[in-house]
Amino acid sequence: MIKKIKKAVFPVAGLGSRFLPATKAQPKEMLPIVDKPLIHYAVEEAVAAGITEMVFITGRNKRAIEDHFDKAYELEAELEAAGKQQLLDIVQNVIPKNVTCIFIRQSAPLGLGHAVLCARPVVGEEPFAVLLADDFMDVATGVKPVMAQMTDVYEREGMSLLAVQDVPRSETKQYGIVSATAYQQDLERVNAIVEKPKPEEAPSTLAVVGRYVLNNRIFDYLENLGRGAGGEIQLTDGIAALMQAESVLAYRYQGQRYDCGSKLGYLKATVAMGLKHAETGPAFTEYLRQLEGVYSK
Ligand code: UTP
Repeated sequence: MIKKIKKAVFPVAGLGSRFLPATKAQPKEMLPIVDKPLIHYAVEEAVAAGITEMVFITGRNKRAIEDHFDKAYELEAELEAAGKQQLLDIVQNVIPKNVTCIFIRQSAPLGLGHAVLCARPVVGEEPFAVLLADDFMDVATGVKPVMAQMTDVYEREGMSLLAVQDVPRSETKQYGIVSATAYQQDLERVNAIVEKPKPEEAPSTLAVVGRYVLNNRIFDYLENLGRGAGGEIQLTDGIAALMQAESVLAYRYQGQRYDCGSKLGYLKATVAMGLKHAETGPAFTEYLRQLEGVYSK
């Protein structure tokens, strides 16, 4: 019987070096898009998929993330005393009451594969989701959030699943790249996966992005991995090993991804969400129109 996905792993222990100095004293996953940190959006996406246990793999700057999802006694008391009920509601409802947060420390940033392996004691014998919060996923009104799309597919097919999108060939070096054969609509069967290939060596331009649903068997392979591309223990290499034992699917998700680990991607996400946001949308739209007028002269 196919198990339901109840646990999500959020690796947040990377160095975030592309975003220094903003990430000197806080993880990049705490960078806000308008008014919510990236990690908050990712947790909301997991909640929308019916996931109730959030497992954070934290590193040296873990405090901000723990505090964000914890009770904020002083702040709450002050908002209450000042009669700021609306703000109090926001602070008290960062996550639904039925959701549990678990924090595990990754001793050193040895790579994404190692970060995921750190979740093994909590995930145990169940399939689980992995969300990289710096891949910010936006969907159109009426479309299910990306992780909910993926758990639907998993609960139907029972196979590990990687979110994929086509990228320009010149960018293959930034991604895990799969070669795959058609399976069903929006779904392909992965034949091979390779981490950060040069454009001339990439087997395709189908890139893995930061959403996965994995069978727990992946842990057996991650445990035995050596260092791969960039000297890191790569999740991609673990998936390549898992594929020798069972089928892995690539899923072309519906939605727009912003690479918020890069400055440009982060700026684009901020503009997109600023335009959509109930409070800032109308005024920000007007502001951008004015700017366009200034710069098109
Ligand atoms: P990245 O490849 O984006 O690396 O990690 P990074 O170190 O965070 O950022 P840059 O490249 O130095 O700017 C992908 C995801 O894996 C997590 C990161 O937090 C990010 O969500 N990660 C990476 C870990 O949790 N631990 C690691 O050892 C490496």
